[in-house]
Amino acid sequence: MREKLQQIKEEALLKLKECQNSQMLDELRVKYLGKKGELTTILRGMGQLSPEERPTVGKIANEVREEIEAAIEETLKQIKQREKNLRLSMETIDVTMPGRANRIGGLHPLTKALDEIKEIFIGMGFSIAEGPEVELDYYNFEALNIPKNHPARDEQDTFYINQNVVLRTQTSPVQIRVMENKKPPIRIIAPGRVYRSDTADATHSPIFHQVEGLVVDKGITMASLKGTLDAFAKRMFGEKTRTKFRPHHFPFTEPSAEVDVSCFVCGGTGCRVCKGSGWIEILGCGMVHPDVLRAGGIDPEVYSGFAFGLGLERIVMIKYGIDDIRLFYENDVRFLKQF
Ligand code: DAH
Repeated sequence: MREKLQQIKEEALLKLKECQNSQMLDELRVKYLGKKGELTTILRGMGQLSPEERPTVGKIANEVREEIEAAIEETLKQIKQREKNLRLSMETIDVTMPGRANRIGGLHPLTKALDEIKEIFIGMGFSIAEGPEVELDYYNFEALNIPKNHPARDEQDTFYINQNVVLRTQTSPVQIRVMENKKPPIRIIAPGRVYRSDTADATHSPIFHQVEGLVVDKGITMASLKGTLDAFAKRMFGEKTRTKFRPHHFPFTEPSAEVDVSCFVCGGTGCRVCKGSGWIEILGCGMVHPDVLRAGGIDPEVYSGFAFGLGLERIVMIKYGIDDIRLFYENDVRFLKQF
């Protein structure tokens, strides 16, 4: 019986050494110490031993049990540690892995272009002015030398709120509002939304954006106008850009001109973008009409000024080769993401 106990002990300790996980350990515990386990069976058989032998064998049996229990305890600890290490190693965070980028929106191409234009003019000493989009007929037309029944009103077919109130068709009314509120020297640009009762197509939209410019001071000449707009064109379309001032007519400027820039795609030799002419029209401008200065409360005998107005969409379409104005307002991210 002693040998048997010794044997059980050795076998148990050996098996415990090989034990890999807590499930196997449970099985071993049952096998040796369980109710029907090997050690229990032996202890049950103690009754057959002689009274002299019983205490010694009993003692040995208890020692074997304690040893096995201790070994199980120890093995359990090791297994737990191993399992914990394994779990930790699987949960390790790779801090060198690049993070998942947040998807944030971008600026609309019109906003970007406007920012660029603002920066160019702010760099030349201009500041930003604003006016209302719902405008009095007086500011939108009358004070700009466009009386009722003037044919120029036809070109800017308007959304009328009532007889005297319109959605502004141009940013030019801001000129009058600024002059009414500020003494020269005046150097402003006025960007904003304008409205015309046009049906949307590839080049027309009932809502679009303009940037107005106004400079009023003593001694402002056509040379100031040309120099300013030439500098703007070079910054906006590239240093090699040349400008051409073509005589034109606007009711609120005299003389008036339209400005073309040399095509920044072909450099002026003629291509698809400039339709073979080598030039692209970008804006209207002129010397502020004396009547307009007067409407703004400024004496045309003392001061003179120039003004210009450009269509923001048009500029962006030219610059990026966009062939349909409606793309700006459709909010298709496939379009917007390209800028
Ligand atoms: N307001 C004009 C338009 O919408 C553009 C324009 C032309 C503005 C000449 C000006 C200017 O200030 O001098 O067609």
